[in-house]
Amino acid sequence: MTTLVTTTAQLRTAREAMAGPVVVVMTMGALHDGHLQLVRRAREVAGEDGSVILTDFVNPLQFAPGEDLDAYPRTLEADVALVDGLADLVFAPSVEEMYPVLPPVVSVALGPIASVFEGAARPTHFAGVATVVLKLLHLTRPDVAVFGRKDAQQLAILERMVADLDVPVRLEAVPIQREDSGLARSSRNVYLSEHGRRDALALSRTVRAVEAAAPSMAGMLAALRSERDAPGVDWDYASAVDPATFAEIGPEHRGPVLVVLAARVEGTRLLDSTVVEATAA
Ligand code: PAF
Repeated sequence: MTTLVTTTAQLRTAREAMAGPVVVVMTMGALHDGHLQLVRRAREVAGEDGSVILTDFVNPLQFAPGEDLDAYPRTLEADVALVDGLADLVFAPSVEEMYPVLPPVVSVALGPIASVFEGAARPTHFAGVATVVLKLLHLTRPDVAVFGRKDAQQLAILERMVADLDVPVRLEAVPIQREDSGLARSSRNVYLSEHGRRDALALSRTVRAVEAAAPSMAGMLAALRSERDAPGVDWDYASAVDPATFAEIGPEHRGPVLVVLAARVEGTRLLDSTVVEATAA
């Protein structure tokens, strides 16, 4: 049975009663199979004696004016039903509960890793993400926090934040969850028409082409451009980067490669990514 709490006071009381490993999954709700995979992994890590907390909060700080904050799907009742039996606690605070002062006077400032790629397209986004994640880590005090690999830059930034600010938590990354078609699961997929969903497959086709070209670095760079003219897809970037720094890498690179993709389909911004190893020219 999953308990729903909405205030930090209720969360604190529930957290104090938890024994064993506490594992948190942070979401903005509108849960889909991709989230459920994170919650299942959290359950495995927590074990029978531990506890799983799901946070369900659409964080205004990570949306710029004109983005889809108001339209973002909110489905709390369905979310709680979906994680029943998997999560012990759902924390779904109001905006006022999380931010008595909005914007907060103090927030997390990030280095250059947050101003490229997604950060270039959404300049205030990652500072908003890092600030709410740090708050939620303080509130839930987990041993482990589980995140998906789909938001690869978010994950890299949170790993840096935890290391640089000595946050006592282990981050665990779970592979991207895909629909049968290959489309990476995302809460924003609900904005796509059937036609848009087909066009959006250019992203996962690019991922597959890059994976097939590995370990040739030149082959992977060529594969990155294989869907550049795909109809209905307005590419923002398709790049190979160093997984730790997000610096772009070229044909001479050998070692781990993170491939990051972003495009708009029917006005909806979609992301995909994969990690591969380059060992040849
Ligand atoms: O990945 C997300 O859904 C959000 O960025 C997160 C981590 C829940 C913070 O609002």
